[in-house]
Amino acid sequence: MVNCPVTSTTSTAPAKFILFGEHAVVYGYPSIACPLLQLKSTAKITPHCSPQNNHSRIIAPDINLVSSLDKSNRKHKLVKVINTILNSLNITSTFKDSIHVVSDIPLSSGLGSSASISTAVIKALNDHLNLNLTTEQINKFVYETEVIQHGSPSGVDNTVIAYEKPILYQKDYPTEALSPPVPLLFIVANSGTPSSTFNSINKFTKNYKNNKRVYDTAMQNITEIVREGKNAFNSGDYKLLGQLMNQNHEILDALGVTTQLTNILVKTSLESGALGAKISGAGYGGNIVAITEKEHYQEVSSALAKISSHTIITQIS
Ligand code: MEV
Repeated sequence: MVNCPVTSTTSTAPAKFILFGEHAVVYGYPSIACPLLQLKSTAKITPHCSPQNNHSRIIAPDINLVSSLDKSNRKHKLVKVINTILNSLNITSTFKDSIHVVSDIPLSSGLGSSASISTAVIKALNDHLNLNLTTEQINKFVYETEVIQHGSPSGVDNTVIAYEKPILYQKDYPTEALSPPVPLLFIVANSGTPSSTFNSINKFTKNYKNNKRVYDTAMQNITEIVREGKNAFNSGDYKLLGQLMNQNHEILDALGVTTQLTNILVKTSLESGALGAKISGAGYGGNIVAITEKEHYQEVSSALAKISSHTIITQIS
């Protein structure tokens, strides 16, 4: 039996960007990801304990959704996700409260909006109902919701968002927390073209099946970049990180993961003083990330702001 807490509970979770290794990570290769703390999802649980008003509800104004969580409404993806969470936590029949979700992370843009929303909801339920879940348990539950959203995700998004730390992630291996000795400055810029991770993974997989040798070689090269990238990250080597980001972008570009707009953003970053830039996340649109030294970040960000729908300057430490 779940108690009836009298106050509401609010939790947040960040966005993320992929520094190296997107797509290859789906096939068991390593990748490096960072939390993007400037954007976040917020989940608020409001109690509904009176017997007259005992329907669990989801309210998500960003997507115009107000729905009860009962069987009749299970078609909507977010309703499905929330029901999966309640089911995993074993509270489907006892939970009668309202879950209010807002997020400033653009949807389908490679910044982890789905994992962020699920993480915020699970963290809020954890606090609200005193479930005492560990971060690892939260991460596992978020992964289950990512499978509903994206089909066969690697698990990197839920892990970086649940832990809120830069990580080296590889499926079936322990996740390594990374920590640069100096703050690293990145600019994330949105191309304004949405692209769902579900479709991106499917597109990449289809191309991979048709061209196995090329893709296998590309993913081995990306793995080398990730290995070198880990050392460059942990030693705060801006220059090397930039070179490796450019190399990773070239490979993704050759595999067709980029678009004209993302390539213009990458080119603009480099021409205005960034040390490296690449597409970040699922690609086929979405965001790019550029690394820039302190002296140049203003030029780079104002050049990007002219052509990007949204730019964010972030410092990873
Ligand atoms: C991760 O943000 C993007 C992809 O690598 C998918 C995944 O890892 O699940 C394309």
